[in-house]
Amino acid sequence: MSLPQCPVERKPTSICIGAREIPSRYFLAPLAGYTQLAFRMAVRELGGLGLATTDLVQATMLLSGRRKSMDLIATTPADRPLSIQIFSGKPRELARAAKWLEDHGYEGVDINMGCPMAKVNGQGGGARLMCDTEDACRTVAGVVNGVQIPVTVKMRLGWDADRITAPALAREFEQLGIAAVTIHGRTRQQGFHGRASLDGIRAVVEAVEGIPVVGNGDVRTPADALRMRRETGCAAVAIGRGAMLDPWIFRRLALIESDEAGSTNADPSPEEQIDFLVRHFTLMEQQHAGYACILFRKFAGWYGARLGIPEDLEDRLRRFESAGEFSEIVEQIRARHGQRESATPTALVKTPNGPNALW
Ligand SMILES: Cc1cc2nc3c(=O)[nH]c(=O)nc-3n(C[C@H](O)[C@H](O)[C@H](O)COP(=O)(O)O)c2cc1C
Repeated sequence: MSLPQCPVERKPTSICIGAREIPSRYFLAPLAGYTQLAFRMAVRELGGLGLATTDLVQATMLLSGRRKSMDLIATTPADRPLSIQIFSGKPRELARAAKWLEDHGYEGVDINMGCPMAKVNGQGGGARLMCDTEDACRTVAGVVNGVQIPVTVKMRLGWDADRITAPALAREFEQLGIAAVTIHGRTRQQGFHGRASLDGIRAVVEAVEGIPVVGNGDVRTPADALRMRRETGCAAVAIGRGAMLDPWIFRRLALIESDEAGSTNADPSPEEQIDFLVRHFTLMEQQHAGYACILFRKFAGWYGARLGIPEDLEDRLRRFESAGEFSEIVEQIRARHGQRESATPTALVKTPNGPNALW
């Protein structure tokens, strides 16, 4: 099956996914609960971000117009390019959800085949789909054949070390008309343990004929991203937790690619970082009004550690109840940031733990 081509000529820093030209090869990987509209927009405004993808959205819930699903697919014209990620163990629901998204003006659909959570796998969705090639192909074909917009798949290397199915599946999906595939270089059994395997990602790059493979896993710095591209041959890199740790990572990569790294790649000043915190909250408030105060609390620990916010202020960020109170706290942060030794808040994006059969 031949895919529609990009309408415009490619620049070396851009990449085509089906007929969509994406302006950067560095993408934001979905982190459910973190990478929603406000965070995406705050990061986009810093520059350098290519494609972003929403949190995974359950297909049936989306079709029934559930409030939570509508929040997850909320976007604005500036929040582009964007793909909506859907999951389901029911191929027909998945295809209907993709069509619904196309009919409502969304420009790309991503099928989740990597989620390790029991509640997703138990319904036959997420990484479970990787266990049965025929089933996975039927599911993908149903979605691809029902829409014109590019369909992509995000998956892991396979279910476990004995079932590394990603290379074979990627090859099959390419024949079915998938526009790109993202590979998180771990198996479902690994969960978030161990290191993402660059060899595993490279095996997928080598398995496909021409579609872009997007590498993913453990990229925390621009050097990690460049190494992933160099050692795997992947066409683009999706960054999840690394973008939480350093929302400037995309801008840094863009500067490196434009050879301006030396002059302007300085770390953001504390003021810029506080401005980012404020922008993040303001965007959240625009979408969620008063509820933003509650939603923002989960970011308190992250900002606290990153900015060296004194603990009493971090604690207030965890409990504030109004935009007015938020402004007061920010004023104090501006005056007192750096009074606490800042730590690298790697552990603050929680990953599931314990035996993964119980997740
Ligand atoms: C809290 C959290 C939520 C995630 N949510 C999603 C999701 O909704 N869809 C998805 O495909 N992957 C999801 N992932 C996986 C990430 O997209 C990514 O594949 C993984 O974290 C490895 O990349 P990283 O090291 O750059 O974070 C999630 C990961 C974490 C830690």
